[in-house]
Amino acid sequence: MAIKPVLKMGEPLLLQVARAVEQFDTPELHALIQDMQDTMIALDGAGLAAPQIGVSLRVVIFGFKKNQRYPDADEVPFTVLINPQLTPLSDEMVEDWEGCLSVPGLRGKVPRHTRLRYRGHDPWGNTIDREVSGFHARVVQHECDHLQGILYPMRIKDFRTFGFTEILFPGRSLPDE
Ligand code: NI
Repeated sequence: MAIKPVLKMGEPLLLQVARAVEQFDTPELHALIQDMQDTMIALDGAGLAAPQIGVSLRVVIFGFKKNQRYPDADEVPFTVLINPQLTPLSDEMVEDWEGCLSVPGLRGKVPRHTRLRYRGHDPWGNTIDREVSGFHARVVQHECDHLQGILYPMRIKDFRTFGFTEILFPGRSLPDE
């Protein structure tokens, strides 16, 4: 339907707590998700949250094909997740690089839970309930943070690991996600 402009860090809407979706399978909800998909695909992102295109609702999408840009990262099935609830399954945290379409050109090392369960709904109101780890768990945590008004730089512990993608990874064209 439409590729939407992505809000950048500094926009107040990105710092808001998003509202829950109350009605599933509506034309408005399907149109929002289509716009999010179009935008994520156009920008080659691994995930996108509704607030990033200016809609303060609890909707995230993510998905990632192997070797697209992180050779070590596992494939993540394309998922639309609405009103998500995250439950860590381990206290273990691991740091790894993240980027964000709302923070273009930068990367930082962010600690995330290694294993978690997430629950929520698909666009028709069907339940999604998964236990995930690794890159899948990282992407979900990053996207769901957007619904709480949290951008990944707020979670960086050591700012020496925050910098410009072209400097940190010279010679590699890594898009933002
Ligand atoms: Ni992001």
